Amino acid sequence: MNVIIRTATEADQPTITSIIRAAHINPMDLKWQHFVVAEDAGQIVGTGQIKTHRDGSHELASIAVIPERQGEGIATQIINALLADQSGTLYLMCQRSLEPFYQRFGFSPVTSDQMPPYFRRITKLAGVLSPVSQAVRGEGLNISVMKRKL
Ligand SMILES: CC(C)(COP(=O)(O)OP(=O)(O)OC[C@H]1O[C@@H](n2cnc3c(N)ncnc32)[C@H](O)[C@@H]1OP(=O)(O)O)[C@@H](O)C(=O)NCCC(=O)NCCS
Repeated sequence: MNVIIRTATEADQPTITSIIRAAHINPMDLKWQHFVVAEDAGQIVGTGQIKTHRDGSHELASIAVIPERQGEGIATQIINALLADQSGTLYLMCQRSLEPFYQRFGFSPVTSDQMPPYFRRITKLAGVLSPVSQAVRGEGLNISVMKRKL
């Protein structure tokens, strides 16, 4: 494996979009200018970005690795590269099952009253949209918001 992490270019936009769509994660705000990509022998195998929201909060987002290359530490490399450039507080949204993974990078779960307005709004919306499917599955809200403070 010889994966490099580099800033994205305009030519990477279609690949970034298709990797995020295939991973079934948030398909909004996928501007290449905010991304880094993991590349191996000319192929993009993973993506990640820092989003800036209108309330001024920053989000580690769009972390995805193509299925055939998962489990090799590529997401870890992407996250470390993105974190190296950050000096302030960062948030992220993930499935609850990924909390232990993000805790490795210094993130901890926050409650609704500790969230910036953007994250409070999104989680409230998710709570409104998903109660029926959750009731069927007998689960609580499956989304976690996490924060990393320097
Ligand atoms: C989550 C994801 C980015 C991890 O990428 P990766 O390159 O395989 O990650 P790494 O190899 O750096 O680290 C692997 C760790 O991820 C964690 N992990 C991966 N998938 C997981 C899952 N479904 N549930 C819980 N933990 C998971 C494990 O802690 C694993 O650690 P281990 O190898 O010690 O078991 C990748 O599985 C992916 O693209 N998933 C689909 C998109 C997605 O859910 N993105 C996260 C958005 S918040």
